[in-house]
Amino acid sequence: MVKHSKKFYIVGNWKMLINSIAEAKTLFGALSRASLKQKKAVVIAAVPAPFLALLGSGSKKAVYLGAQDVFQEASGSYTGGISANAVESSGAKYVIVGHSERRVQGEIDAVIARKAVLVIESGMTPIVCVGERARDVDGKYLAEIKNQLLGSIAGIPKEKIDSIIVAYEPVWAIGKAFGGAMEPTLIHEMVIYIKKVLSEIVGKETAFNIPVLYGGSVDDAAAQAIIGAGDADGLLIGRMSVNKEAITKIISYVK
Ligand code: 13P
Repeated sequence: MVKHSKKFYIVGNWKMLINSIAEAKTLFGALSRASLKQKKAVVIAAVPAPFLALLGSGSKKAVYLGAQDVFQEASGSYTGGISANAVESSGAKYVIVGHSERRVQGEIDAVIARKAVLVIESGMTPIVCVGERARDVDGKYLAEIKNQLLGSIAGIPKEKIDSIIVAYEPVWAIGKAFGGAMEPTLIHEMVIYIKKVLSEIVGKETAFNIPVLYGGSVDDAAAQAIIGAGDADGLLIGRMSVNKEAITKIISYVK
């Protein structure tokens, strides 16, 4: 297990945006060069599974590798499934679980919780995604997030909960036109809220050490504002993470 860092996390979620080994190598090379110059950030690339072993073997350790998902069983006859142990053995240290793009395909909290447990058991860190579908004036979205979070970590032994990272990704802010990222002050509120929910289980001190990242239409300007405001422990970046120039700039903003 990688110990949590006090450094700022920059996690690139390549999604299914990179579709060849050649592209993956070029992007990872640019990412490694940007990260080698940056000592204040932990840079993680959550890449499509077929590229893990390839990039893991050549990595200069400036960039940690992550997977975007794992199967909810440890081993067995599950055609197409990719186990946490297989992912770990290919060089990944982190795994995104419960991304909203998987939740819309029917993935429920109990399945996500099972995945998070398997990721921890195989020695990696789960990046557990939560986020409301929409905002409402009555604040019901807060209960939605609390339920999602508690449901998605149910089954992780209490003493292991400190090993997770949480990514707050409001569904309404993902994949929008750039300029659509949430305001830093609102992000701060949600980061605190999530840490408060966690503190009910593991206590305040432990909860406040669990990194909470923000994701949703982060571009150059949003990254600069959020990093500057210091309101989140890191960023989970989709489309801009596969844009060499943009991600290089974003990494350089961490101070
Ligand atoms: P975009 O940055 O493309 O909106 O994606 C956010 C996201 O889903 C990261 O996991």
